Amino acid sequence: MTPPRIAIYPGSFDPITRGHEDLAIRSLRFADRVIVAVAVNGQKQPLFGVEERVALIRETVQHPAVEVQAFEGLLVEFAHRVGATLIVRGLRAVSDFEYEFQMALMNRNLAPGLETVFLMPAFDLTYLSSSLVREVARFGGDVSPLVHPAVLKALKAKFRP
Ligand code: PNS
Repeated sequence: MTPPRIAIYPGSFDPITRGHEDLAIRSLRFADRVIVAVAVNGQKQPLFGVEERVALIRETVQHPAVEVQAFEGLLVEFAHRVGATLIVRGLRAVSDFEYEFQMALMNRNLAPGLETVFLMPAFDLTYLSSSLVREVARFGGDVSPLVHPAVLKALKAKFRP
């Protein structure tokens, strides 16, 4: 029997958007299990704490083949611990490319057995990012088509308590 193909989908997810949701589910076309891996110590100062981000992803992506875990330290080490052979990242625009290319090559340097796969988001979600969602929500704009209702509620609680 062939072992299950495990993919990790890493990121900050601050917060998870409909675009992330789409990619997590899309990854199941080539992976048997997807682990959404939430970086604890990203470079940015997050709006949502790691526990909040994990809880929001769990509420948003309810699929038996998708699980959510926080990780600290190097992504390749986390991948090794959970037995993943694939890293999934989304590529939205050309502007994403350089950073993604550098990360993919560095990760391959660190762990040659681990392959990075880039997925394009759904057409209408191409220009979506967590930072834009945060900014629009901060100033009271409507982000309801862009995030799950649980995320909308959490954003409202942060900005309009
Ligand atoms: O959503 P983001 O912020 O673009 O995700 C970036 C993330 C978390 C995938 C990246 O910063 C990462 O992998 N961090 C873990 C530490 C690590 O392994 N860094 C080296 C990457 S080459």
